[in-house]
Amino acid sequence: MARRGNSIIKGIEISEIIEVLNKAYADEWLAYYQYFIEAKVIKGIMKDAAIAELTQHAADELRHADMVANRILQLGGTPLLHPQEWFTHSNCGYAEPKDFDVVSILEDSIKGEQCAISIYSKLAEMTRNKDIVTYDIVSEILADEVEHEEDLQALHDDITEFVADIKQQIN
Ligand SMILES: [Fe+2]
Ligand SMILES: [Fe+2]
Repeated sequence: MARRGNSIIKGIEISEIIEVLNKAYADEWLAYYQYFIEAKVIKGIMKDAAIAELTQHAADELRHADMVANRILQLGGTPLLHPQEWFTHSNCGYAEPKDFDVVSILEDSIKGEQCAISIYSKLAEMTRNKDIVTYDIVSEILADEVEHEEDLQALHDDITEFVADIKQQIN
């Protein structure tokens, strides 16, 4: 635990920060696995572009889990030790891919990113001017999640436009 480092935290309970970070930590692991498995099962048009994007996102979510775990430890907490706790602590849950079509997979993922953006913007607000280090970490992750949403939405729109063009040419 970083004693002096933690003494600069003002106006918020450290236990509360650890609790919300552990919930975000659960989200990151579930997001990681969701992207990992989506990249494996995805089917349909332009799936290679989607696989590249999903694989990159999986790596980013795992990196986020690492960042959050390190901050929990600095604060004197313990990151969740059992995967079962990911489900009981998660804010955003897990969207099991049911329809493997590229558009449906991208839509599930966009919803996940939108949830992550809401959670990290709340964490940024909660820690601003109180816990500078956590604030910096959650802000950095928030910027990544915003980029993730944008990347997925752009790909989704490209694919749906492409499909619409083909349908028009056939008719
Ligand atoms: Fe993330
Ligand atoms: Fe993300």
